Amino acid sequence: MTTTTPARTSAVRHLSAPATARLLGAWRAGGPAYVALADALRAAVLAGSLPALTRLPSERDLAAVLKVSRTTTSAAYARLRELGFAASHVGSGTVAVLPRGGRPAAGRPAAGDAPVPDLADEHAVDLAQATPGAVDALHDAYARALEALPAYLATGGYAHLGLDPLREAVARRYTARGVPTDADQVLVTTGAQQALAVLASTLVRRGTTAVVESPTYFHGIEVLHRAGARVVGVPPGDVEALESAVRTTGARYVYVVPDHHNPTGTSLDPERRRAVADLAARLDVTVVGDETLTDLGLDDDAELPPLAGPGTDPRLVSVGSASKSFWGGLRVGWVRADRQLVHRLGAARQVLDIATPVLEQLAVAELLDREDQILPGRRAAVRAQRDLLVEQVRDTFPTWDVPRPAGGLCLWVDLGRPVAQQLAAAGVAEGVQVSPGPRFTPDGSATDHVRLTYTRSPAALTDGVERLARAWRRVTG
Ligand SMILES: Cc1ncc(COP(=O)(O)O)c(C=O)c1O
Repeated sequence: MTTTTPARTSAVRHLSAPATARLLGAWRAGGPAYVALADALRAAVLAGSLPALTRLPSERDLAAVLKVSRTTTSAAYARLRELGFAASHVGSGTVAVLPRGGRPAAGRPAAGDAPVPDLADEHAVDLAQATPGAVDALHDAYARALEALPAYLATGGYAHLGLDPLREAVARRYTARGVPTDADQVLVTTGAQQALAVLASTLVRRGTTAVVESPTYFHGIEVLHRAGARVVGVPPGDVEALESAVRTTGARYVYVVPDHHNPTGTSLDPERRRAVADLAARLDVTVVGDETLTDLGLDDDAELPPLAGPGTDPRLVSVGSASKSFWGGLRVGWVRADRQLVHRLGAARQVLDIATPVLEQLAVAELLDREDQILPGRRAAVRAQRDLLVEQVRDTFPTWDVPRPAGGLCLWVDLGRPVAQQLAAAGVAEGVQVSPGPRFTPDGSATDHVRLTYTRSPAALTDGVERLARAWRRVTG
């Protein structure tokens, strides 16, 4: 198989030498330094923490920061190019790329090389995706949605703010949780991800500072980077650090995951929740609370109040989703905000997808109407998977620190050494996908953490842990 890279490869992002060094963590292994460096960079590309089309630092800058010779960085980049993981053009530097099919260039690897993993392994166990399979009630919800569909067939089908029955169902849900809400304060989106993207593209300008928790949901960081924001991280739950970061940077935007945080599983207690919400008015900053995981409290049935208070402060915005509660394939999410903002966001989303599909919106309205009957079963299944993964990972890796999260869909595991990239890459080679810590931080730190999700079947989780043990042996020798 030959590797082809685009005739012209334009970088979409530049990674500085210090950021590259942080991302790589402990990259040195036995054998030649250039091989270890190239393989660590390749591991980062494979794991997604160094996205394709990122321009790498110059050989000289990287050599200076890593304290290696220029010959080492030059040889490492040459090896990356040979393996199909980098492309270079005169005047545009070296750009990370993915080889076609994830396979190495013909004739590689040479003797002594680390194994070159195959990205196209459809049998790999997925401990990376944080979406469980559909709830049993899904089929019935679609059947009912089909019955309701004829009433919409004479319309054009473009409801850019969302269908009334769903906007009303979401509004009822907020009202029941103590935040009176009208349907016109709700925008239906194509997943929470679109809500985050439309919020960023509407409220963030190039150079705006945004403060996020670090670690946090990686696509939440990415939408801010893509909107041109400077993204600053503070530890989850540290409201003092959050306030101080907003004050000192002049941030205009805050993104938090208050409930069953991705990836740590922690939640803001009522006092800190109020303190975060108060920042919006006190510091005149938009505070976006991502409540995508709200329904997945696994140990405590006490309801978490929404971040938004009973008022309609235009600076306080909530985002929600049907993905974790019912099914990610529905692609239905929402924003709860002040009416003016809902209209601005509704206009902005039209250039992306015009509107969310009608049948899926009707199905989610059905599911929300019956969520009290559906969600206990969802939580029980996820809880059993969490307990199984926690036990197995603790038994298999006694040197790792494996906290049991009280909610959410993932374990945030401390490996005790900064080898997350290497483990993720070795995992690909062993047929198990895990997410390395640096994906979850705006500065590429957390090189000693990985996120493991418990969204697959018990059999798959057991198989995944066995594969991960083999991957760990590759990393630790
Ligand atoms: C915190 C958080 N926000 C948003 C999303 C994306 O959700 P959706 O599938 O609704 O786009 C996820 C998915 O993992 C998530 O964990």
